[in-house]
Amino acid sequence: MSERPYVIDRMISAKAIAARIETLCGEIQDEFSGTDKLVVVGLLRGSFVFIADLVRELDLPIEVDFLEASSYGDGMESSREVRILKDLRGTIEGRDVLVVEDIVDTGYTMQHVIRLLKGREPAKLRTIALLDKPTRREVEVKADWTGFEIPDEFVVGYGIDYAQRNRNLPFIGKVRFT
Ligand code: IMP
Ligand code: MG
Repeated sequence: MSERPYVIDRMISAKAIAARIETLCGEIQDEFSGTDKLVVVGLLRGSFVFIADLVRELDLPIEVDFLEASSYGDGMESSREVRILKDLRGTIEGRDVLVVEDIVDTGYTMQHVIRLLKGREPAKLRTIALLDKPTRREVEVKADWTGFEIPDEFVVGYGIDYAQRNRNLPFIGKVRFT
């Protein structure tokens, strides 16, 4: 991993993220109202902070499960080849599922995960991504809910890393090499 020096410029504050999550959760609750079986699936590792805040704002009966897909390795470029490193623990057949992703970038990860989970015949499958970089898209996919659309910048914080670092920043910042 290169150790080129960089600084992190603040982009989205913790407060703005919290406010957006509150709005999104209202919509998610409407979509899943009456469910007695929502499985909230976090994509590891980048969504771990987002899913934690999201589920605490959701007034629905839920279970939490995790799936680890890898496309980035430790660098800044998508490999476009998605591998499942850790599968769900539970079954989702006939259940309502909400997939929680940190960023939709090229779209390969989300597309792969949707195909995989749809094949297991959930009753309803919806997706949410905290961030979307629409100008980077290489395959046609869009989350049902998006927190923020952002330009083509490499971002960190709020669970999102650069070379495994900066996941613990409470805000989203962009990496700027110096
Ligand atoms: P995609 O398959 O290209 O859409 O990539 C999605 C995954 O790449 C996300 O789940 C992130 O883990 C990672 N990723 C994409 N953009 C960034 C970024 O700006 N910072 C850190 N990770 C990113
Ligand atoms: Mg990810």
